[in-house]
Amino acid sequence: MTVGAARGEHPSPAVLPAHPALPDPLVMQDGTRVASAAAWRQARRPELLELFETYVYGRVPQGPAYDSQTPLAHRVLFEDRRAFDGIGTLREVELTIGPPDWPKIYLLIATPNDVPRAPCFVGMNFAGNHQLTDDPRVRLPDGWMPDRHPGVVGNRATDAGRGGQADDWPLAEIVQRGYAVATFYCGDIQPDRPDVREGMRAALEADGEADPAETATIMWWAWGIQQAVDYLRTDDAIDPDRIAVVGHSRLGKTALLAGALDERIALTVANQAGCGGSGPSRHDDPKAETVRIITEKFPHWFAGNFTKFGDDPSRLPVDQNCLVAMCAPRPVLFTAAADDLWANPSGQFEVLQAAAPVYELLGVDGLKADAMPAADAPLLGDGRLGYWIRSGKHSMTPADWNIYMDFADRWMK
Ligand code: GCU
Repeated sequence: MTVGAARGEHPSPAVLPAHPALPDPLVMQDGTRVASAAAWRQARRPELLELFETYVYGRVPQGPAYDSQTPLAHRVLFEDRRAFDGIGTLREVELTIGPPDWPKIYLLIATPNDVPRAPCFVGMNFAGNHQLTDDPRVRLPDGWMPDRHPGVVGNRATDAGRGGQADDWPLAEIVQRGYAVATFYCGDIQPDRPDVREGMRAALEADGEADPAETATIMWWAWGIQQAVDYLRTDDAIDPDRIAVVGHSRLGKTALLAGALDERIALTVANQAGCGGSGPSRHDDPKAETVRIITEKFPHWFAGNFTKFGDDPSRLPVDQNCLVAMCAPRPVLFTAAADDLWANPSGQFEVLQAAAPVYELLGVDGLKADAMPAADAPLLGDGRLGYWIRSGKHSMTPADWNIYMDFADRWMK
């Protein structure tokens, strides 16, 4: 089965002209300036989507089988209404997203008991829901996972991993602040390895020569988040109009893509997401990851075309500021860490700056700062583009979650 039909003709990466500066999200490919909200919505935003599909992430899965309006079948695996010392409910839900041979999503959902229709964060985790809590009822994923995570033996999850990454998703603290949170293992949709003979890619892709714009793993992950959003919007404990997407690092790249694709997502948080996510492809910072390095090491994350820009990313007709712009006017927060130069904190700030004109065109404030804030001085409330760099290293911590919730308090409460 072919996933996503090619739409329109796009030049091969080899013949695209070079533009050293970040592309202006308000100038069409043919040079026309976008001067109205209508032109943005009807012409430029769709053009950008197509360019990201062609040159960066591959096609958005589409066709009747992928219709995101189709109601999903779900089964509650367990529910504890007295979780987190009685203030919340914890449950795990199995989502059937297609025919029996398709993967299933196992969504762990924590909701506050005293907030009707709570705002909700959704995102994927790296190594299974069981890593986020000691609760023995939480299911162990049965698919492949990288050995570097706690308790993983022979690329399979074991009980020894329970609670091993609880700091990444501090469920109790999130519920205490009046938010719901829903998460699932990224490998439910597509295991994180170049060998794609598993997951959605295996279930759906045609054999034979790969289309250079075929749906890559980050796009499949973003699509998985959209499946979770479909379900969450039917959940009585959650406000369907206040769902925020969040992710760390490669899963932060995914969160940003999901936020850009899906206008039902009210707010986007990309934590230390760097190259191919919140960091620009065009940069000359020797300490930051480049398109060449990322596509050599993680070829499965991106469309084959993205690899072809390794020698000269200035030929890319888009850069990551255009992906942020696709979220406009919805709020976006980038969070960075001072020691995480690989993810290019200053470049991330420039990406926000170069997305801001689209927010202004749509009549809202984008970024209310001319220079990158100092470490530990959050820029969260004045415009819909927020930025925070904290001291420390590459990780997702309870302190970072407090910042996500401060930003969400401003824009979703
Ligand atoms: C590697 C990779 C990054 C990625 C990170 C992560 O460092 O180079 O692009 O963001 O892994 O996902 O932790």
